[in-house]
Amino acid sequence: MPGAQFGPRQVEAADVNRGRVEAHYTKVLRRLLGAHALAEKLTAEGYRRTAATISDPEIRRIAHKNLAEEQRHAALVYGLLAQLGVSEESADRASLVLRRAPSFEAARCFAEQAQGELGLLMGSISLDMTGLIMIGVNYRDSSYAPHARAADEILEEEADHDEFGTGALRAAVERVGADAVSAALRQWLPRAVNFFGPPGSGFTFDCLRYGLKQKDNDELAGLFLSVLERRLNQAGLEMPRLSKTYPHTII
Ligand SMILES: [Fe+2]
Ligand SMILES: [Fe+2]
Repeated sequence: MPGAQFGPRQVEAADVNRGRVEAHYTKVLRRLLGAHALAEKLTAEGYRRTAATISDPEIRRIAHKNLAEEQRHAALVYGLLAQLGVSEESADRASLVLRRAPSFEAARCFAEQAQGELGLLMGSISLDMTGLIMIGVNYRDSSYAPHARAADEILEEEADHDEFGTGALRAAVERVGADAVSAALRQWLPRAVNFFGPPGSGFTFDCLRYGLKQKDNDELAGLFLSVLERRLNQAGLEMPRLSKTYPHTII
């Protein structure tokens, strides 16, 4: 954003640890990394869950591959927290309230309830496709250089997960029919959009001000919806209608 206090990749771990940035920057950064780490961890959990319920060997193989990659992403981001003196346990403790928020419903449901190929597909749309946008737009240009470098590493694999999701969408329509996929989408789409978080929050304002995010949550959510609508239409599906304000619901 114009007027952000730090440009992309300007701050290193040593700057934070030696107090060369203000204490509030560190606080906001820790919270943001904690949320990112938890999202990667719950996504990995979801892939583990769904992989165990999938009979098709090729899809199961991909679920296991994605599981290993999501575990690596989680380890990478928890590693960034460790560099700042925050353990995985204390990061997760600090995210306890967030875990129950509407913005984490998709990740929670994927980790705790998703089943079978349709569950895998909904997790991929709700977490990989959205994650790819968050990481590609916001974190790759983070002022915190270690987060931006982690984003570079994660992006390539997320692009793969996203491609898998697109193919899986068409396959699911052929296999279980448009009505079943539409019903699942009506359940998952609000969760997916809410994953971007509420727009205009004080926390996001701080992230934008410090250059830890580049765009507000509603802009990213809008981008996600426009890409998804095109994909759904290509697969012969209609986009469910959503309420305008966060937390979004089906109308
Ligand atoms: Fe990931
Ligand atoms: Fe992913």
